[in-house]
Amino acid sequence: MVTLVAVCGIVGYVGHRQALDVVLNGLRRLEYRGYDSAGVAVLTDAGLTVERKAGRLANLEARLAEVGVDSFAGTAGMGHTRWATHGAPIDRNSHPHRDATGRVAVVHNGIIENFAALRAELEAAGVELASDTDSETAAHLIAREYGAAKERGGGLAEAVRTVCRRLEGAFTLVVSHADEPDLIVAARRSSPLVVGLGDGETFVASDVAAFIEHTREAVELGQDQLVEITRDGYRVTDFHGEDAPVKPFTVDWDLSAAEKGGHEYFMLKEIEEQPEALANTLRGHFVDGRVVLDEQRLSDQDLRDVDKVFVVACGSAYHSGLVAKYAIEHWTRLPVEVELASEFRYRDPVLDRDTLVVAVSQSGETADTLEAVRHAREQKARVLAVCNTNGAQIPRESDAVLYTHAGPEIGVASTKAFLAQIAANYLVGLALAQARGTKYADEVAREFRELEAMPKAVSRVLETVERVRALGRELADSKAVLFLGRHVGYPVALEGALKLKELAYMHAEGFAAGELKHGPIALIEEGLPVVVVMPSPKGRAVLHAKLVSNISEIQARGARTVVIAEEGDETVRPFADELIEVPAVPTLLQPLVSTVPLQVLAAEIARARGYDVDKPRNLAKSVTVE
Ligand code: M6R
Repeated sequence: MVTLVAVCGIVGYVGHRQALDVVLNGLRRLEYRGYDSAGVAVLTDAGLTVERKAGRLANLEARLAEVGVDSFAGTAGMGHTRWATHGAPIDRNSHPHRDATGRVAVVHNGIIENFAALRAELEAAGVELASDTDSETAAHLIAREYGAAKERGGGLAEAVRTVCRRLEGAFTLVVSHADEPDLIVAARRSSPLVVGLGDGETFVASDVAAFIEHTREAVELGQDQLVEITRDGYRVTDFHGEDAPVKPFTVDWDLSAAEKGGHEYFMLKEIEEQPEALANTLRGHFVDGRVVLDEQRLSDQDLRDVDKVFVVACGSAYHSGLVAKYAIEHWTRLPVEVELASEFRYRDPVLDRDTLVVAVSQSGETADTLEAVRHAREQKARVLAVCNTNGAQIPRESDAVLYTHAGPEIGVASTKAFLAQIAANYLVGLALAQARGTKYADEVAREFRELEAMPKAVSRVLETVERVRALGRELADSKAVLFLGRHVGYPVALEGALKLKELAYMHAEGFAAGELKHGPIALIEEGLPVVVVMPSPKGRAVLHAKLVSNISEIQARGARTVVIAEEGDETVRPFADELIEVPAVPTLLQPLVSTVPLQVLAAEIARARGYDVDKPRNLAKSVTVE
């Protein structure tokens, strides 16, 4: 038996418009969450009309064009776009799933962990399952409970609640029943779910992006909650039917932020939005001469008591933590360990109530990071989340939160969120230094002012985009690319390599330049592009000199050197086959400028190789399975 689970985008709608249009539009904005298959279900006069198709949303749209959309007339419906973690993403495993009568439809995000037992129970009762998925079991179980719920005077919501109490794992379900055509029911355990409140229309989705063109008023659903939506509004209960408290919020960005705005792909738009992302992340965090966080449930005394910091994160967020280590240790004199969230809780880290765990996550729903947060809290450590998504699970489960205000990041490769994470991590460092008195108030103010100057510096880097793109096209046929850096340039090298791997499917490695002679230099061969992230010749003269030696060593062995260096750095010029200049900024802030050309380079190499820059193969934006 193959278990198919999904990390997906889901959307539901009840209102006055044609549901198919609303749902397809929503799916277009959620496709970054997964693009292995897509499907829709609409409640029509004839019952439930369903279409689903393996592959990208475009395949489903082509299929709908083929069959015609007349049979989809209806004002309530749901949709799904899927990222499969196990098994083949084929038509019959695509959502929505239905029960045997075809009157119940379900889309699902997450994993039903006890699905084998549930499936066996259904099969023993004579139910034939049409797919290999865990999700389908929910459709059959809900259909079975529906009759009993009706007899008790209840309906679909009650049936879904009963089934949710039996499900184990993390799941979000959107459910409809042909007998209740003006209602959509959605339930949440762990995987995200928000409700959008329009005028005579209501939405549910895994992300506000799905309905942002219709409303910015939203309600966030908590753990183990169920919502019934109709065109007139919504009702939230727990899984036992008790009314539950809700948290309404207004989205602070609009449709234009979720659209390409004339750019060829989202990633390029998001690269260009970085100055704004930085400015928005810093805004409001320096008040009356003090650095302030967002949801501060930690007192200054708590921060003073901290004797060790862990930064836990994955992918690019992890690299932002590696950068932060240099600043936080320097400013606070606290030891900082940066750890991949997927490793953290499996090695029994030493944690107690004086440990501060900084959990960095753009989505706020990355399973590895969430589990690391839970582990840290079980061990009584304090957790501070750095997150780009309002109300996501990681901030919900943390003691304090600092939101990065990068706006929605649609491109799967992280760009503006990464820069915003670096800035936010620095604010955490300054807040710690301020509480602990390791920096005077005027020093904190100076550091903050330097951060505030960064949006302008990043804008200047963006002036080089076209040149870097041209270089990307030249390098598109390379077999591999190496990235070297020292000090804060080392995590930048790792980030540059990650971008190239995930977008251009090219072998790319980032190294601490000093490590080269301990092995990796054997990789250098004639014409191999090596990108070197230089420190400032003034700020870090010793490191600069050492890197110049490293470059000359690799150049002597035939490498083609691409050097990212501070404007006016003449010493490095003779060693640079290609020189990309970035503005002079304080050493700790250099990653904010030197990462940008590497993002552009990776995107352009991917484009030149004919790949989808926004949706690289095998990936999804949020990884909600471990
Ligand atoms: O949402 P998160 O920040 O927790 O995501 C972490 C990583 O999955 C993410 O940074 C990933 O590595 C990006 N695709 C990198 O570009």
